[in-house]
Amino acid sequence: VARNKLLDNLNTNSSAPLNLLLALKKSASPVAWALLHAVSLEAEKQNAPIYVVGGFVRDLLLGSPNLDLDLVVEGDAIRLGRVLVKRVGGRLLPHQAFGTAVWSLVGDQAAILRRLHVPRKKTIAAQVPEFIDLISARRESYTHSGALPDVVFSDIHEDQYRRDFTINTLALRLDGPAAGQLLDPWRGLSDVHRGLLRTLHAQSFSDDPTRMLRMLRLAGRLGFKIEASTLKQLKSYLHRLEAISGERIYKELMLVLLEENRVAILKEMQRLGVLSAINPNLEFSSSAAQSLKRAAMPTKNWEIEDFEISDLRFVLWFMCLPPQIANAVSDRLRLPLPLRRAALGAAKLQPELRVIAKLAPSAVVAQLEKELPLALYALFLNVSNGTAAKTLERYVTKWRHVRSRSDGNTLRKKGLKPGPAYSKILTRLRAAWLDGEIKNAKQERALLEKLVDEHR
Ligand code: CTP
Repeated sequence: VARNKLLDNLNTNSSAPLNLLLALKKSASPVAWALLHAVSLEAEKQNAPIYVVGGFVRDLLLGSPNLDLDLVVEGDAIRLGRVLVKRVGGRLLPHQAFGTAVWSLVGDQAAILRRLHVPRKKTIAAQVPEFIDLISARRESYTHSGALPDVVFSDIHEDQYRRDFTINTLALRLDGPAAGQLLDPWRGLSDVHRGLLRTLHAQSFSDDPTRMLRMLRLAGRLGFKIEASTLKQLKSYLHRLEAISGERIYKELMLVLLEENRVAILKEMQRLGVLSAINPNLEFSSSAAQSLKRAAMPTKNWEIEDFEISDLRFVLWFMCLPPQIANAVSDRLRLPLPLRRAALGAAKLQPELRVIAKLAPSAVVAQLEKELPLALYALFLNVSNGTAAKTLERYVTKWRHVRSRSDGNTLRKKGLKPGPAYSKILTRLRAAWLDGEIKNAKQERALLEKLVDEHR
């Protein structure tokens, strides 16, 4: 477990309430500190106790503070948000039904830093979080397993109780004389200390089966162990994953693929039967593990800028499944269409690549042109055969850009009637360039005359 001095120096056995205000001031970035200070002043004016909760407090204690601020207010989060926008800047995206709001700070960094009186340096501007979650303390109840919860306004204690793991229940008071006080009714601090993931109650995975995926992601990220009875709960609720929508599972797996320890996390999901509970065909094999380790975004040539690194990683994983299975699993996860096409294309092409690499360039182009660049790049990362890798690279950097000088207009001027002959002739000319049969404009003209005569 990654520990830091902060965690080790806390006297968790003392009966006095723990006060983390100094620790917060020392460990949080100047921007986070200034933002929390501004928020607490406004909350105090509204007589609304406010807490920073969840991942931020957990990571603060672990010595790796993040920018992900979740603020819970015992009051009206939207009203608080409106005042904060006036006072500090940014925009408010309220969600009336839940009494929550996202406070967006995107694009307004310089003005925000000025209003917060934080020195304006480039490095500091980058520390302004893009979004802050403002939440009215609420209780949630689940009408049935996996459903979205019903919501009722409540206090911080109930808000902590709706959370997934003890280490995510920690709430740090920000306003008034009690500022810095840690509310920890589920002994989350002790679990942070011991590096343990523990649910709050036995129904947690039944309420929301995606928490099983979240738990393994967190365990992998933090290097934490799963507490014994929580592990039993996981095993007994695995079957509930089958009923969870593809979109929700896709989102969770995408988050896993963005983790540094993604390979270890997926191996653990495979070992515990989480993947096969999602779908009996979903597997993370050792070849998929090898494949995922290679994932890196290229700097140029491959034209896959529209994709995220997690997309590439999905393709690198799914291309290791037999094509039919890759198709079924992509269906189950409702992968976005381009991703599905790329995964399936790469899965199908992978075994054929050695043979394709021996073909003439024009035949290679005919085979590869149907595929998305993402599929080709995933194949490139994965081929062990040097010739195949070179062929892919040549296709991407050179061959796919080769065109004949003649086009439809040229053929029309030659008096050829528009029809299927056009594409036949142009394809043939392009192939002749690709395969080195013609090398200059004169040779192209000669071949063109011959082809036009044949089709007249
Ligand atoms: N939460 C939950 N059940 C879920 C999703 C979220 O109980 N299925 C709770 C967790 O307690 C979490 C909080 O909602 O602390 C906020 O969710 P999120 O921002 O996704 O979690 P983080 O802990 O901040 O995770 P990450 O570090 O990956 O952003």
